[in-house]
Amino acid sequence: MYYPEELIRQIREKSDIVSVISRYVPLTRKGRNYFGLCPFHGEKTPSFSVNPTEQFYHCFGCGAGGNVFTFLQNMENLSFVEAVQQLAGEAHIPLPETELSPKEKARIARRERMYEANREAARFFYVQLVKSPYGAAAREYLAGRQVSETYLKKFGLGYAPISRDGLSRYLMSKGYEPELLRSACLMGGDESRVYDRFFNRVMFPIFDVRGRVIAFGGRVIGKGEPKYLNSSDTELFNKRKNLYAMNLAKKSRRKEALMVEGYMDVFSLHQAGFDNAVASLGTALTPEQAMLLKRYFEEVCLVYDSDTAGTNAARRAIPILEEAGLSVRVLRVPGAKDPDEFIKANGAQAFEELIGKAMDPVDFELAISDTKTLTGQIETMKKMRERLMRISDDSERELHIKDVAARLGISPQTLARQVEEERRNFGTEEYRKARQTMIRGGKDRSGDGPEQTQTQLLALLLQYPNSRGVIFAQVSPADFPQNMPAGEEKEPRENIFHRAAQYIFDKRQERIVAADLINLAEDEKDQRRLAGVATQELPKTKEELEKLAVETIRRLRQATLDEQLRRASQAEELQRVIQQKKQLESLEIHL
Ligand code: UTP
Ligand code: MN
Repeated sequence: MYYPEELIRQIREKSDIVSVISRYVPLTRKGRNYFGLCPFHGEKTPSFSVNPTEQFYHCFGCGAGGNVFTFLQNMENLSFVEAVQQLAGEAHIPLPETELSPKEKARIARRERMYEANREAARFFYVQLVKSPYGAAAREYLAGRQVSETYLKKFGLGYAPISRDGLSRYLMSKGYEPELLRSACLMGGDESRVYDRFFNRVMFPIFDVRGRVIAFGGRVIGKGEPKYLNSSDTELFNKRKNLYAMNLAKKSRRKEALMVEGYMDVFSLHQAGFDNAVASLGTALTPEQAMLLKRYFEEVCLVYDSDTAGTNAARRAIPILEEAGLSVRVLRVPGAKDPDEFIKANGAQAFEELIGKAMDPVDFELAISDTKTLTGQIETMKKMRERLMRISDDSERELHIKDVAARLGISPQTLARQVEEERRNFGTEEYRKARQTMIRGGKDRSGDGPEQTQTQLLALLLQYPNSRGVIFAQVSPADFPQNMPAGEEKEPRENIFHRAAQYIFDKRQERIVAADLINLAEDEKDQRRLAGVATQELPKTKEELEKLAVETIRRLRQATLDEQLRRASQAEELQRVIQQKKQLESLEIHL
């Protein structure tokens, strides 16, 4: 935190969290809290809550949580400082320029410079394509693909020259540091030799939603491998979170986005008047991309190649899009490999008609299933039940059930009964838990592991200020481990609960709102952990609370003492620790 804590608090209090979040998510009031559909994982029934008193939000579905700053950070891809600046601006609170730490300043400056380098690179490629004699072959290639001048410009297409170091030399001559260019994935090589990441390719700049160049895709001219070379992820570019041409498609007046596979498909579609086309960047569609689409569209039409790979990609994409709250249709382009080729062969009008005939997911599933053989039919039945169950509108579901039953040659009553049974299971606690675990990436976070212990004890300290004195007499912030147990991350990570414990300890005489606590965390995972503390359900009776305090303190202290035992080198020390362990067994807490 580089602005004074008091200032941050002031900005936070002036920026009503409910109205900020309402800009993105419609909220309805229920009791003291507000509820809406979670913008972070997509859902059909609201499990996203906003607490105006404590000024934080939390999703019971996916575990997302934080305060008004983290919300903006996540929605707008801002750094903490940028979020603070934006809200300070809206609240007309002047910010002292000098309060930025040198580290934070450097980070912002570096990002700015990387954006600039990318923009310069795009401009360089563009000039090479349109003005340089070396760009002739690329121009010819694009002309052969019927790329118009207007759209070439609109998409900022370019040409990376064959020289292999043209861009690097150009950018270095403008003062860009080699290290920055390497991190931006524009340049390869080491101190002894530099070379361009892209050479002799037609270049497709990738823009973020705000229209800043963040990466590139480059296509070989004619035949060659790899056909497309893309920027790897950088500080500015995460391919899982961006969609090609979303910067343009977001302005489309159409309600339905067209999701296609390739750069050229997007290009051709836009050129043919379909300004709602986007593509995922050479990867399977991600939930993040689905959420991005949901910000601008209600519906998505998947236009994938009609080969097996394309069909499978569509099948995988459907539930992800539906989870994000989008309605989905699937379009299979007949007779042509991809939309680009179809439009070239048949024109825009024909494609418009095709879109009209796009299938809903039920028909799509049927169309790609084997309904000829008995085993095929049984397999199809299973898939159809799963599919039909998800249709929430009763009459719509009934119509589909009749249709599917007729096509599979079974009685609609049988199918309806089976689907209703699936739906009942779907609503159960069991099923919900399984789904949530799935959303969280297979990790079940319940149980009484060290994380849960610390969460509960901190929740007690946060939610019952009167307990602080009694509890801190038995346990200190030092009992919350400094680092997280080594896990997925290679480097030891700071345990945010340690910091939180220290914070509550320092302010044990004051009122602390959850939003203050969340401010301690810089990254998303930690913010979630702290939001978890604020929403942790605690028992209602005094006896149960005391029992919980005893159990959690015991677990934390035990770990500390065990560690001391391992380290002890002298007999007295051993004695003392063993003594303390004994005392721990008879620990009592009276709140
Ligand atoms: P396609 O091979 O279908 O590309 O790959 P395309 O857009 O139809 O290519 P053209 O028409 O021959 O120019 C679909 C997408 O998969 C990614 C690209 O995003 C491409 O647009 N891809 C493909 C790569 O990233 N690398 C490759 O080598 C090939
Ligand atoms: Mn193609």
